[in-house]
Amino acid sequence: MTQDPEGFLPIIRPTLPSLEEVANTVRSSWRSGLVSLGSIVQSFEAEVSARTGARHAVAVSSCTAGLMLIPQALDLPRGSEVIVPSFTFAATAQALVWNGLVPVFCDSLPGTCTLDPEDVERNLSSKTAAICPVYTFGLPPDIDELTEVGRRKGIPVYFDTAQGLGATYGGKPAGGSGICEVFSLSPTKVVTAIEGGVITTDDDALADRLRSLRDYGKDPEDGEDMIHLGLSARMGELNAAVGLLSLRNVDALVKSRLEHIARYRERLGSLPGCWVQEFPEDRTTSGNYFVLFITDRARRDRDEVHRALKAAGIQTKRYFFPPVHRQTVFQRVPMRVSDRMRHTMKASGEALALPLYSHMTHEECGAICNHIERLLA
Ligand SMILES: Cc1ncc(COP(=O)(O)O)c(C=O)c1O
Repeated sequence: MTQDPEGFLPIIRPTLPSLEEVANTVRSSWRSGLVSLGSIVQSFEAEVSARTGARHAVAVSSCTAGLMLIPQALDLPRGSEVIVPSFTFAATAQALVWNGLVPVFCDSLPGTCTLDPEDVERNLSSKTAAICPVYTFGLPPDIDELTEVGRRKGIPVYFDTAQGLGATYGGKPAGGSGICEVFSLSPTKVVTAIEGGVITTDDDALADRLRSLRDYGKDPEDGEDMIHLGLSARMGELNAAVGLLSLRNVDALVKSRLEHIARYRERLGSLPGCWVQEFPEDRTTSGNYFVLFITDRARRDRDEVHRALKAAGIQTKRYFFPPVHRQTVFQRVPMRVSDRMRHTMKASGEALALPLYSHMTHEECGAICNHIERLLA
């Protein structure tokens, strides 16, 4: 097994372009001195648009920044509610709190672990201003059902697609659904810009607002008057260069992850007391994470497996755990929780993300399976 210098097999490693390629790509911007929101950011945005089929792509400094800007761009009134899953990463909901919005946590489906449209419907209220479903571990949620719930209620649906670049739904690439979608390009993602995010939308006015919002809320004409409550959330040229090179490789990056995931699922998915995420036929995952769910019917419990693998030099992560509505910070902010969180609590108590990255070798994947089989078979 090739391990990192500390002798640890990490849960994730970014697959990066070579430094030479990055230097060649960024050279002209470097010379020009226009090192943020320059021509490489524009090329990156154009390639994201082409790849996702969305009319616009707006690059930002992180997915979290994008999630913070979207409610501003949509003018969601402070104090109103936005429905999100609790089985997600905290940033999905933290961005709402930064906007003075109230997250309403709903349950996930037992198989795909994505937001349950029926529970969303049950939790709509007079204060619901939007719905923000999540691509769980890279798998699209029930997009048609969720956008239909939003349409009937007359509210926007935007997607936290942080983990979903490279996924498809109904044969179409992630990025074209709802009012907009926002991707992460952090080092833990399939496509990385080192740090960064990108919002895709077909809505011209929304794209204009987002472009202003990421740059302090500037008036695009004079640049001096601030017309929106913006952020400093621009993407730098160096990040765009890494993102562009990484994006051009996305098919190969996803393919190799899906091969590792297939191997993991085959060897571990039917171990006694274990289960894996369901992949419906109408969609494909980007393969951002592979999560093994270890129930109390398994030979060892999830936390014991987590510790045993750590002792063997294999990093795993209880993910997503705790569910967001149970995290410390959410005990001191306004929120609402569905009275049906059974599947969220179960998934969160059983989930263990295993090492997965695009340049992982078959031997590494096989050795991890061997360890887990020894613990759980
Ligand atoms: C579902 C989800 N949303 C949001 C984020 C935040 O992304 P970023 O680190 O680019 O801000 C992440 C990052 O892991 C995520 O997994």
